[in-house]
Amino acid sequence: MGDRLGEGAGVVKERNLPLHAACKLFPRLSDTELRELAEDIQSNGLQNPIVLLDGKVLDGQNRLAACKLVGVEPRFVQWQGEGSPLYWVVSQNLMRRHLTASQRAAVAFDLLPLLEKEAKERQRRSKGRGEKVAHDCATSEKNGKASEVAARVVGASARYVEMVKEIGCKQPELVERIRVGELSVPEARKLTAIAASNGRKGRTRISKDDKDKIIRGDCFDLIPSLDDGSVQLVLTSPPYAEQRNGHYRSVSEKAFPDWTLGWMKLLWDKLTDGGSVLIVIRPHLKNGILSDYILRTRLALRDDGWCENEELIWLKPDAPPLGSTKRPRRTWESILWFSRSPQPFCDLFACGRDSNRIGFDASIRFGAGTGKPVHGGQNYEMTNGKARCPDVFVAPVGGNPQWNDHPAVFPESLAEQLILTFSSAGDLVLDPFVGSGTTCTAAKKLGREYRGFDVDRNFVKLALKRLSDVE
Ligand SMILES: C[S@@+](CC[C@H](N)C(=O)[O-])C[C@H]1O[C@@H](n2cnc3c(N)ncnc32)[C@H](O)[C@@H]1O
Repeated sequence: MGDRLGEGAGVVKERNLPLHAACKLFPRLSDTELRELAEDIQSNGLQNPIVLLDGKVLDGQNRLAACKLVGVEPRFVQWQGEGSPLYWVVSQNLMRRHLTASQRAAVAFDLLPLLEKEAKERQRRSKGRGEKVAHDCATSEKNGKASEVAARVVGASARYVEMVKEIGCKQPELVERIRVGELSVPEARKLTAIAASNGRKGRTRISKDDKDKIIRGDCFDLIPSLDDGSVQLVLTSPPYAEQRNGHYRSVSEKAFPDWTLGWMKLLWDKLTDGGSVLIVIRPHLKNGILSDYILRTRLALRDDGWCENEELIWLKPDAPPLGSTKRPRRTWESILWFSRSPQPFCDLFACGRDSNRIGFDASIRFGAGTGKPVHGGQNYEMTNGKARCPDVFVAPVGGNPQWNDHPAVFPESLAEQLILTFSSAGDLVLDPFVGSGTTCTAAKKLGREYRGFDVDRNFVKLALKRLSDVE
């Protein structure tokens, strides 16, 4: 185990030894990993002894815990190195473990105060021992910024270490999530930005003119400017992950769930009790495999407290032959339907068609002839009237205005059906990723209030032009 270790630790009986600060730098093994290590120690014995310094565990906390788990007597050695025990622990652990760039940055961040303490200690010891030692100390940390030194020691990026420092000041709990590999540094940083913009409520005044209703800016900054409890319907199509990068900002598949949680969190207080959020989206195929980021996003939103109400579909009967030529032509997209309450407002008949086949008379399965309908409360006799709208909303894509050069519009007829079904006249409809303004145009035509946000100046102009044509 190297020449810096002395075997003379003797028999150490105490297994609940305190941990040296350097030992705490690296994340503990997960329960499964610890059990695997314990089983290995049980079968093959403890290969590397636990290393002690000043009566504390310098290296081997996991080995010690594993020994305890399976009742194997641990062996101990004293660390007898000359240089820095911190550097030694770091190099041992970096050799043994696979850590991501972000986890390394978190280790470097944790290392900062320890390096500082060690430097002070060296300085203290150098006093009275002449200039040579003082000079060695100064040059051994030929430093630059502390974060650069720490980054060098663990092989991390100094920029990432600075970012972790910033995150640690704002939301220390996120550093823990980086440490255990749950979040990358940029993802955690985005979350702190969201929290900050959450605190900047009421910044933008929103008046009645179109130009004040369609605003250029990041929706993460603008959503907080809306009144709490004011939005009945959010109808939107956010940038799909890793698609149309050439046209507008997009988000990576990995970051997409957290990114969506971010703007959805901002919307929570803005919605009315019966309000809905409708997200028009569809996953792409990569090498023939369906991407899973939308599934992960749906589960993350549910975990965050959102109710997912029903699977709705936008059917495009005239869809052009896009997508993989080895798969059936893609003719639909999902409309994800989320709300705060499990009973959001929904006018089932606003888009329902007249029918002379209302009821369940069609088959024995539905109670025909028995007088006992399968579903309680349903009419089992055929009558005339309005049918409930189906969960498939048909909207051809060919109906968009030719002048609209936004690359990812959805049709106005889709927006109209959804606005009629999920809001009432006078309600506020919001599209935080408004693009060419389809949602707002349809809302204006249907007598709803509306707001739209987009980061792109040209799309905002396009939306305003479109709205100015609506009386
Ligand atoms: C899929 S498009 C929306 C198209 C729109 N449904 C239509 O029919 O025109 C997504 C839009 O989101 C905008 N965008 C991307 N990130 C944004 C952000 N953080 N805040 C506001 N708008 C954003 C893009 O510029 C793009 O116009």
